[in-house]
Amino acid sequence: MATVIVFANQKGGVGKTTSTYNLGVALADIGQKVLLLDLDPQGGLTYYAGFEPEDLGKTIYHCLVRNMPPREILVTNEYGVDVLPANIDLSLAEFQLVNAPARERRITRIVNEVRDQYDFVLIDSQPSLGLLTINALAAADEVIIPVSCEFLSLRGTRALLKLIAKVKGSLNSRLQIAGLLPTMFDTRTLHGREILALLHTEFPQLSVFPHTVARSIRFAESTKARAPVFAAKIQVPGALAYRELARDLVKNQRIYA
Ligand SMILES: Nc1ncnc2c1ncn2[C@@H]1O[C@H](COP(=O)(O)OP(=O)(O)OP(=O)(O)O)[C@@H](O)[C@H]1O
Ligand SMILES: [Mg+2]
Repeated sequence: MATVIVFANQKGGVGKTTSTYNLGVALADIGQKVLLLDLDPQGGLTYYAGFEPEDLGKTIYHCLVRNMPPREILVTNEYGVDVLPANIDLSLAEFQLVNAPARERRITRIVNEVRDQYDFVLIDSQPSLGLLTINALAAADEVIIPVSCEFLSLRGTRALLKLIAKVKGSLNSRLQIAGLLPTMFDTRTLHGREILALLHTEFPQLSVFPHTVARSIRFAESTKARAPVFAAKIQVPGALAYRELARDLVKNQRIYA
């Protein structure tokens, strides 16, 4: 039975999609069966995984709003990960589900249909705390919060923690925060090191993953090339962090019934 992990932070551009995809490929590389679920209408994860979001006729929108079984939209990429893709259609879902029964549990239902076929289900969420993100949190066992090592990135984290506490209290009591994942860390600047230290002091109740993802232009290049960062000919600083995180997640995997 898969562990379901959502990457969430309502601040944009902190590395949610990059982390979801590269961690997914790193897990697949060590023999894990991985499903990636794109829950962002920008379709960035879908694109990164090698698919053209706007060319896909059927996406997660159809599962959410039209009750299509997830296996009908499932695609597999050349790196061996399965993807439930998204595109701009998904932006309609929040409005169309406003009056739907159990509208916060739609993703839970979809994930439950497939989770016994995987070791890990990784969900990429959009930079907002709306219905789609609530759905992702309701469906997940664990949350990883990517935080870029800059000051503004910290400010949004408290709002996210409040939402997580609410979801835990109402929709999903087993939801755990796996930890804060520092991304875009620049070892050369004092600012980066200060933010890293601040993460520990500002959020003493949370664990901060020791796998700090270094800042590297190779990440943007890898998104453009639609290849995981491990595919680069040279060793990318930061790539190793995803490999180590993958190994730790497997080693410490809790089994959720
Ligand atoms: N470690 C890194 N070093 C440098 N650039 C990075 C790193 N990780 C991600 N990036 C780049 O930063 C940008 C934002 O990353 P990403 O799309 O993963 O963030 P996001 O949190 O998913 O954004 P959004 O909130 O818009 O969905 C991308 O161009 C990506 O290639
Ligand atoms: Mg994203």
